[in-house]
Formats: sequence, C-alpha cells, structure tokens
Amino acid sequence: MNSPLRFLMCPPEHYDVDYVINPWMEGNLHKSSPARAREQWQQLYQLVQAHAQVDLVTPQAGWPDMVFTANAGLVLGQTAVLSRFYHPERQGEEPYFKQWFLEQGYQVREMPQDLPFEGAGDALLDREGRWLWAGYGFRSELDSHPYLARWLDIEVLSLRLVDERFYHLDTCFCPLQGGYLLYYPSAFDAYSNRLIELRVPREKRIMLEETDAVQFAANAVNIGQIVILNQASDPLKTHLQHHGFQVLETPLTEFLKAGGASKCLTLRVTEPVMETSQAKAGVASRVIYLEGHLLDSGLINRALDLVVEGGGSFQILNFQLGLQRQSTSSAEVKVSAPSGEVMETLMAQLIDLGAAARPQEEQDVYLEPVTQAGTAPEDFYVSTIYPTEVRVEGTWIRVQHQRMDAAIVVDRSNRRASCKLLRDLVVGEEIVVRVEGIRTVRKPESREAKPAQEFSFMGAGVSSERRVELVVEQIAWELRHIRDQGGRVVVTAGPVVIHTGGGEHLARLIREGYVQALLGGNAIAVHDIEQALLGTSLGVDMQRGISVHGGHRHHLKAINTIRQAGGIRQAVQQGLLTQGVFYECVQRGVPFSLAGSIRDDGPLPDTWMDLIQAQADYARLLEGADLILMLSSMLHSIGVGNMTPAGVKLVCVDINPAVVTKLSDRGSVESVGVVTDVGLFLSLLVRQLDRLNLPA
Ligand code: ARG
Repeated sequence: MNSPLRFLMCPPEHYDVDYVINPWMEGNLHKSSPARAREQWQQLYQLVQAHAQVDLVTPQAGWPDMVFTANAGLVLGQTAVLSRFYHPERQGEEPYFKQWFLEQGYQVREMPQDLPFEGAGDALLDREGRWLWAGYGFRSELDSHPYLARWLDIEVLSLRLVDERFYHLDTCFCPLQGGYLLYYPSAFDAYSNRLIELRVPREKRIMLEETDAVQFAANAVNIGQIVILNQASDPLKTHLQHHGFQVLETPLTEFLKAGGASKCLTLRVTEPVMETSQAKAGVASRVIYLEGHLLDSGLINRALDLVVEGGGSFQILNFQLGLQRQSTSSAEVKVSAPSGEVMETLMAQLIDLGAAARPQEEQDVYLEPVTQAGTAPEDFYVSTIYPTEVRVEGTWIRVQHQRMDAAIVVDRSNRRASCKLLRDLVVGEEIVVRVEGIRTVRKPESREAKPAQEFSFMGAGVSSERRVELVVEQIAWELRHIRDQGGRVVVTAGPVVIHTGGGEHLARLIREGYVQALLGGNAIAVHDIEQALLGTSLGVDMQRGISVHGGHRHHLKAINTIRQAGGIRQAVQQGLLTQGVFYECVQRGVPFSLAGSIRDDGPLPDTWMDLIQAQADYARLLEGADLILMLSSMLHSIGVGNMTPAGVKLVCVDINPAVVTKLSDRGSVESVGVVTDVGLFLSLLVRQLDRLNLPA
C-alpha cells in the first residue's frame, strides 16, 4: 500500500443515464439503479485501493457522467491535458476537473476551442512509456494529437475508431504491463490495425472476440500484473493468465448502461515521464483549395466524405459562397491524416475531385528517374481517367494519352508529359512522384454533375420499362448524331450478345455505319461464326432455342473452318462466311480486335494470345472514341474503361446490376448503365434507329 501509484475516481452520487450520447445509453435512460451503481462503484474503489492510492474529486449535481474520470484529462508527469468534450452534455464537467488538476499542482494544458479531446478515454500510454496511443473518429479530433505530442513530448500513434459501440479508445484497447496489448481489432480501420501490428509483436497481442469486447473486457485497469475488469470469458482469462496476468472481475453492469466500465471510472494520475521519449506525431496536414459549384454539384460533400472515410479529418478555413446560381464558390480546407502515407492516398483522391494547392502555394511536381526498366520509382503518382496537368518549372502542362493506372512521364526539355504504362518505362525517364504540382481539369459545366445513372429493365420495381425506352431513345439519338458528324463509336461485346439473339441487331448496326470498331474476345467471334455457319450458338439452335443433338461440337467445327481458311477475313473472302457480326465488320472495313484468354478454344487465328499486344491493339482502336457501347462483357469492358479518359461517353448494358454499377461508376455524367438483357436492348435500339430514319 506504499505504492506511489495514484488514481482519480469520482463517487457516483449524481450518476444516472440522463441523455444519450453513445449507443449503450440508448434504451437505458434512467434505467440504472442508484443503489446497485453505488455498490458496484464501491467494490471497484476497494479493489483499486488495494493496489494503489485513490484520490476523489467531488461529484457535481447535473453532471451524471462525471464518474467517468478517465475523461477528466490526460496526465503525463506534471502536465495534465484537460478534456474538451465533444458533447455539450459533458462540457460542464471541464471546470471541475480543471480545478482539481490545478489544486494538485499540475500544469494544465487546454486544447483550442472547438478541438474536442476526451482525455485518457482516448489516449493511452504504452505501459513501457514508449509512446502514446491516441484514438479519433468519434469523440476526439485527429488534430488534437499534434498538441499532445508537443505538450507531453512524446510520440503519438493515431488510431481510428470505426465501430460506434467503441467510441472511446479505452473501450476496446488496453495496453498492459510488459508491452502486452489487449484489444478488439474490429473496432479499428485497416490502417490502424497495421500500425498496431507494426508496434506490438504478435505474441504480445491479446485479441478479443466480440463477446468479450461488448462486456467491456478491454476497458480494464492494469496495475502491474493485475487486470481489473467487468467480466471476461474463460478463454480470455486463461489467455491473460498464460501471460502472467491475474484477472479480477468486478461487476459494473450499471455503468455499462452509460457505456463505461472499470477503466472509464478511473484516471491514472501518476504517469512517469520516460527520458527517451520525444515529441512526434504522425499526423500530417495540408491545405487544399477547391473551386466550382461546390454546393449544388455536391463536390464539397464528396471531398469531405472522402477525407473522413479515408481516415482523415478536416477543418474549413475559408468558404466563399457564390450567391447566384451561375456563380462558383471556393473553399480552403485543412486536411489532416494520421500519417504521411494516408495523406498521400487522400490527396490523390482529392486531386481527382479537382482539389489543388492554394494559388499562393502552388509548386512544381517532384520528378524521379526510372532506374529499372519497366518499373517506376516508389511513390509514383498513379494516373486516373481525369484530364490532368502537371506543373513543371512554373508552368502547367497538360498530360497526353490520359488513361488510368499509368505513370506520368515528363520530358522537361520538350515541356511534355504523358501517361505511360509501367512496363513501357525506360531507364532515365522522369516520372511524377508524390502529389504536389498535380491538378485535374474539371469541366465548368460540372454544375449538373450527378452520380452515374442506372436504369433497370428486369429488376422489378427499380425502374419501369418506359425508363429503359427513354435511355434507348437517347442512345439512338446519340449514335445517329455521331454517325452524321463522322465521329467514332467503339463497341465491346461478349458472347452473350449472340446467345441472347442480339447478333443480327449488332450486325445491322455495323452494316449501317454506326460502329467504327469492335472489341471482344475469342468467344464472341466463335459464337457469331458458329451461328453464321451452323445456326447454333454453343450447340443451341438459335431459331428454336433447343439444343441440337451433338451440337456441342459445333463451335469447334466453326473454329476449324476459320483456321483452315487462315482467319476471319480470309473466310469471308473465300465465301465461307456470309453473314453475322464479323462478316459485316470485314465487309464494311470496320476493324476489330480480339483479346485472348486462358479458356479460349482454338483460338481463332485473329485472336491475340499475347495480352500486351492485345492491350496495345485495343488502345489503338479506342483512340479518339466519342462513345463506347459496352455489351455484356465485364472483362473486356473493364480493360477498355482503364484505357479511356474521362469525357468519353460510356453506355454499359448487362443483366447483372453489379457489373453495370462497376462499369458505369466513373463519377461522371457521361456514363449510363442499363440493366437489361442485351439481346432485348439491341433490338430496342435498332427499332428506335429505324424510327429516327423514317422520313418525317
Ligand atoms: N456516458 C459517457 C460518455 O458517453 C461514458 C464515458 C465512458 N468513458 C470512457 N473513458 N470510455 O461520454
């Protein structure tokens, strides 16, 4: 009992569940028994007192949560960082705790106004004193962490809480003596879990199951080898004992109703300062500038959501609101992230939304040379579909050959920049790294930007047939328009087009000049040709819809015929192939490209089995496309999507809504998804084009 260890507690005289500020309090308003609460608190008090000295702060009427002294502040050495509560319901506790700290002779530090920090509830010292774990996401703000690092002269590791049941770090995370850690991994995001795993070796991590976590097993008071908690399952007890800990259970059910247990009810006020520690917060911040129809296009919401969902935090420094419908707004936003790494990821996404540096802070891109052919320097900027500019020696240069998932190569002497695939990078080329000096050029009319639209034909109740007809009308009009202007429509199609009877309609579109290139795989060509030669598609009679006896061999016969002829074009020239999609392509001189895959039968002589060549050939045919019609081929369509810059209209048709969503989600107005049978879609499209062509 001569222990120098001291804890602060607050008797539950005025304790009650009086309001709801966390999920545990829901449904528990005034449901805790004062007598039982007093009794449970007393038991805990005695347990702690058996191992340490306990000081008391006077409870105050009207501040029922004051029992949770973990939220008074955070103590290290002679410094106490006072809490700044997130909820007004608890803000009134601050002066009482402040007074107590001052009376005890602590130097009291206070967070700036509007920067919530909830004390030791969200900041837990490594029990070896090597660093401070600090939580954020619900109650404490990420931007409070650098203050902690500075004031306490310690390294701060920021952990993001993602499960609202575990709204304070101490509800799911408990550093133990000897470098052990008791915690519930699911309460944290992936980045935080990785950080924990980097700092705490596997054999020292004691992971909780949900059943123990919801009993607040991680909300434990650790004194030496003793662990005081509300309740632990047998396996957990065994686990802790195995590591030399003695588990003392003491029921705290009345306090669980307010979302707290033993750790919340105590504050360790003697925390020795380690000699070796030094201020360091991983938190990185940066100010971004956004301009445009920030409110009506929803851009500002998307940007801020992206920051928070990505594990960061923000503060709006300045917002100029455009007052007229046509006038734009601008905003300066301070973005914070738990580490430089997370910051770069956030910035890359913000750049896609059009975020830039403040005009007075613009800077050049960072360039690094390729040192190994076919690879980029670490930290290289990964390109997107959005038109991009990079700032080189003070001037902004537009990036050529915009596509996604490439590196940006800068040729300084010629002031040129272009997207290039990793495999094509040559030693000595200069590559854009990091995220500085990069911006995307957004079209001013993005005022009307809405999320990608999706139309469902089959999906009952989602959308009416009439709506699909409306999209078909739009697409038909567009196709006509592009054809009349001499534009370029590229179709990517899968074999389903043939199975669903769409072949004849696609053939017609080609014949009538609506298609300028056709991209697909081996299969669509084989099925189209099988149908042209033998009337079946994968052995199914396309007229009668039934399997033909021995029909499964038909597609190999079709392949054989084309192989004998030397290729599709040759088969047409030799008069063997006289109808169908590919026949029309050859007849109309419409180029096609077939990309092979592991499951291809044959393959046809026309199919590229070297995928790098196939990609290059696709890219060549896609150059200058105005509209791409993606017809039921997820694989080829995704490939095409990656090669296509924003600004090209995309129409994706698939019976599977998931495919449509995946393909049409380019965050742009130009993409339209249609959930329907592709054969049906093509027949509607052809019918609509016929209507347009009728003399008025
Ligand atoms: N009702 C209190 C609140 O929601 C409970 C605080 C529990 N304290 C803790 N350190 N987790 O703020």
